[in-house]
Amino acid sequence: MASNWAEKFYEMQYRSLKQEGELTVYEMDLAKSLKEQVGRPLGNVLELGAWDGRLARILADDADTITTVELIPEMVEVAKAHSAPNITPLCGDFYDIKIDSTFDTILYMDGFGVGEDEDQRTLLERIGSWLNDNGTALIDIYNPTHWIKADGQSMCPNPVDHPEVIRRYDYDYDNNRMIDTWWHADEPENTLSQYLKCYTTEQIYTLCQAAGLDVIGYFPNGAMDYNAWQYSDNASLEECLSYRIKVRRH
Ligand SMILES: C[S@@+](CC[C@H](N)C(=O)[O-])C[C@H]1O[C@@H](n2cnc3c(N)ncnc32)[C@H](O)[C@@H]1O
Repeated sequence: MASNWAEKFYEMQYRSLKQEGELTVYEMDLAKSLKEQVGRPLGNVLELGAWDGRLARILADDADTITTVELIPEMVEVAKAHSAPNITPLCGDFYDIKIDSTFDTILYMDGFGVGEDEDQRTLLERIGSWLNDNGTALIDIYNPTHWIKADGQSMCPNPVDHPEVIRRYDYDYDNNRMIDTWWHADEPENTLSQYLKCYTTEQIYTLCQAAGLDVIGYFPNGAMDYNAWQYSDNASLEECLSYRIKVRRH
């Protein structure tokens, strides 16, 4: 079952970022690197935590079919409004949605880590059950080294459309998770947070093994330099904000 904060947080985040299905350079670049990392035709794809379906739309021409799963109805409505014939947008919770098909490629970008270790293991097991024999999944994992450095940093995530919205990062050392808290400048007591577990490469390897998955690749994503206040697309596995794992069934 989805965490009790997830629905409210992601609905607020979607509205605050004021994204209404429009594609950006970010998703174009993401789609390009995903195709390289999969390294073969995408085939039938399952995308988890699919936001408003923007990545699926970019990948649609390279895939046979794409099924997307997203928790927030508002985002699924946008996904449906902009969909392509080979995309099936589903509204549901990836912890309990019933999907009978198996897939060549499963994607979960930027969102893994909701809940406890047991929840991550359950999700990884479900991913394994949705993969076909030669299938692979790409999953973004938050890197603790980066989020420890981000502890206490605050910023305005959408200064053009929503200059009143503020965001702060904290690190919860007891539970190894980053906390991402948003609020309106005039209502600082009214906050919403997301909590994402962070894993070292060794920890995620062990968790994947326990869930019946082999990690066959690690790809570092970018990193934010909080001293220079600058984001770089290229970072080491040690420094990156998150890294992508490529997994397949044992
Ligand atoms: C941090 S956002 C990332 C969105 C998108 N994948 C991207 O890379 O921009 C996490 C997404 O996962 C969705 N999500 C979170 N928990 C979910 C769950 N239990 N079932 C389905 N979707 C979920 C959220 O609503 C949100 O759209």
